[in-house]
Amino acid sequence: MSNDSSLKEVATDRGFRIGATLNAQSLRNDPSYWKTVRNEFNAITPENALKMGPLRPARNTYDFTDADAIVDFGRANDMYVRGHTLVWHNQLPNWFQAWEYTDEQLETFLRDHIHTVAGRYRATVDAWDVVNEAVADDGTLRETVWADAMGEKYLDRAFRWASEVTDATLYYNDYGADAVNEKSDSIYTLLSNLLERDVPIDGIGLQCHFLGDRPAPESIAENIRRFQELGLDVQITEMDVAFTAGDAPDDRCQEQAAYYRAIAEACLETGCDTLVQWGVNDANSWLRQFKDFPERYTDDPLLFDDNCDPKPAYHALTDTLIDG
Ligand code: XIL
Repeated sequence: MSNDSSLKEVATDRGFRIGATLNAQSLRNDPSYWKTVRNEFNAITPENALKMGPLRPARNTYDFTDADAIVDFGRANDMYVRGHTLVWHNQLPNWFQAWEYTDEQLETFLRDHIHTVAGRYRATVDAWDVVNEAVADDGTLRETVWADAMGEKYLDRAFRWASEVTDATLYYNDYGADAVNEKSDSIYTLLSNLLERDVPIDGIGLQCHFLGDRPAPESIAENIRRFQELGLDVQITEMDVAFTAGDAPDDRCQEQAAYYRAIAEACLETGCDTLVQWGVNDANSWLRQFKDFPERYTDDPLLFDDNCDPKPAYHALTDTLIDG
């Protein structure tokens, strides 16, 4: 295969999924964004549109406009669609805080939410992040509205409810657990326990937001392997590579490329067949959204620059998928 092939072509050719996270507004309004996604990726994840806040304007209503637009775009282009996410503690609807629910009401609400959302996309979403970020940074179960009402069993229930309405593969997804470390140890125990209780979980998503921190690729490979040995599929679900502001190397694009290459190599070596970057091009990276982020991190973490031109990291990934 020649080097003129797109990332999507070289990935597809070797059975690899290379993904990007999408927002509906850019898809509608920005032709170069839309073309980049269509030509360069064979997998997508809606960045926000499938989260509970955006989907639930009021307690008994849904707004699927943006979610449908993104999922339809993925299907129309033969892409693998990751659904993100059914249960999370962030981006809850605004009305949620004022709601004085009982534990039972909350449980019923979550069940209905999962049944409705995962059910609606049963034929169109291939994989779901059923539960996102349930483990706190110290490795304990994160205190959330869900844990508060149901304890650890909220995970069991969420996966079971999802499996009742869809055949999509079902993932647990988290950050800071990409390499072997205390947090991934805790998640390993949590997921082992779910499997022991026969909870229908198929895999784990390693977010891989590398913000200032680039764990040894060998440790990431080792981490991937141990989850695979549990019988779980492992995917890289939200990758980006940024440097601590003020501490970025002069050749940061090259260093970023080298790290993307190392992670792609770890994927090929372990048989992890899905790598999704969190955004399409630098201009719409989530790192640009928050006031404090540009002070903390460099804000060009993706494969395409502000103009949707491919960066060294893009070529590093393409070469790795051709040669690796
Ligand atoms: C982020 C989105 O990118 C932002 O647009 C939004 O304002 C906040 O959430 N981990 C996750 C993602 O699982 O859902 C987060 O997405 C980034 C961190």
